[in-house]
Amino acid sequence: MKKITFFLVSLISLSTMAQTNITIIPKPVELTQKSGYFNLNKSTIIIANAAVKHNADMLNFYLKKFYGFALPVKNISTYQNVKNVISLGLVYPEEKKKDQYNLSVESNKITIGAESNAGLFYGIQTLLQLLPTDKGSVKNINFQIPQLTIKDYPRFQYRGMHLDVGRHFFGVDEVKRYIDYLAYHKFNTFHWHLTEDQGWRIEIKKYPLLTSVGGFRNGTIIGHYPGTGNDSIHYGGFYTQQEVKDIISYAHDRYITIIPEIEMPGHSSAAIAAYPKLSCFPDESTKIKPTTPWAGSRTGKQVQQTWGVFEDVYCPSDYTFKFIENVLDEVMQLFPSKYIHIGGDECPKEAWKRSAFCQKLIKEKNLKDENGLQNYFISTIEKYVNSKGRSIIGWDEILEGGLAPNATVMSWRGEEGGIAAAKKHHNVIMTPDKYCYFNYAQIKNSDSLNIGGYLPLDTVYNYEPVPKELNADEAKYVLGAQGNVWTEYIGNDSKLEYMIFPRMSALSEVVWSPKEKRNLQDFKSRLTVMDKRYQLWDANYCKRN
Ligand code: ACM
Repeated sequence: MKKITFFLVSLISLSTMAQTNITIIPKPVELTQKSGYFNLNKSTIIIANAAVKHNADMLNFYLKKFYGFALPVKNISTYQNVKNVISLGLVYPEEKKKDQYNLSVESNKITIGAESNAGLFYGIQTLLQLLPTDKGSVKNINFQIPQLTIKDYPRFQYRGMHLDVGRHFFGVDEVKRYIDYLAYHKFNTFHWHLTEDQGWRIEIKKYPLLTSVGGFRNGTIIGHYPGTGNDSIHYGGFYTQQEVKDIISYAHDRYITIIPEIEMPGHSSAAIAAYPKLSCFPDESTKIKPTTPWAGSRTGKQVQQTWGVFEDVYCPSDYTFKFIENVLDEVMQLFPSKYIHIGGDECPKEAWKRSAFCQKLIKEKNLKDENGLQNYFISTIEKYVNSKGRSIIGWDEILEGGLAPNATVMSWRGEEGGIAAAKKHHNVIMTPDKYCYFNYAQIKNSDSLNIGGYLPLDTVYNYEPVPKELNADEAKYVLGAQGNVWTEYIGNDSKLEYMIFPRMSALSEVVWSPKEKRNLQDFKSRLTVMDKRYQLWDANYCKRN
């Protein structure tokens, strides 16, 4: 018995030792480590034909970025006898899964074969995580990569991260950094929240005031809502259409789709400040509480300087619908994504209740009430978006008053909206705030300003996107999950990184790795190396205690 125990203990510690330097996040489907190493050095060659040349360039992009060198790329078809190569190629594994890649590291060759170029890119991300976390080793490039085989593919087709650039603006380079963070973790969707009460961030040529007026506010509250004062700093910014194209192309190079969000009918103060006729009450000033710390004029329509939900929302008039159609025309011209996010959340109904126009419309269209009007609003826009060959996503409030026919629901106020939508056979993206809001504090007694909630790393890691209330057929409507980052209290890149890391790493495993492979303790042991990788990326992160 003792002998058996000793044997077992030795076996376990041997396998742990063998695994110590392999710390890939998200955890691959299958990984077998072998003895020995491949030595990556200055003589290593990347072999790639024209079909995968882009991915060879991407590998070099990251080698250069992290370690300051690039490898020669050759297109040679008979390389069997060539030594010291990284070979990239499109292959068709027998049990083909979407975006699968197979990675093998042998003594004198690394091979990444994938079902698609996206799969190949994921294989490259895995390879990069087999390289040192230490920039210093570049002087004498000789990276020892453990011999192994990996077979890997994603669990969910939708693996998303969101960023609100309305409350605080993040410039082109910052957004690109964010996109790279998604890429390292094999996320494939960036949900770009582009319009808010506190700022409209995308140039729309037909409506220049959206950015020249709506892109800026006269100040921002100081401290937690309701604020201890106002900083009186003229604040804002926006992306030109050229910059938007550049960012879309940057994401596309990394197999990331950008879903733009143009909010409606609520969260529209900035657009209304630019074009007051979008309001049911164009001549009324924006309602600002006397106690709200404010900079500049309190009269007329104003871009918001504080946080929350605001009464002045889009009026469901012909003027508004034409405006939105024109805006969406430009947005759809820029963004090739199948989905256009049209918001739909947190739309107070006070203005519609006291608007004679809205009350008449409710009667004319035989709607039940203002919730029916919300449904009418969303359905009208959905029809327009569908007529252009695209589909809408909306926050789970779009369930109120009946669901627009082809809409995909993003479930944020818990899982209920997602469950209800999946049961109605609508596609669902799970992003319940309790698990997926990375603007919530991640440690108790956080020393920085945060929005109310508390979302520790373990809770993110243990999140299961398919609610147990769904049967197997309904579960198919859950496309995946997404981490959200609302930026009321996130005003710069460093804070943004602090808020997403390491929780985004945890979520990447939730959406990529097989459910049965997930193990919190194992994840945490790999995270100690990930911390060093965050440093390699020059990224800030939350140092847990
Ligand atoms: C949201 O957090 N209002 C979608």
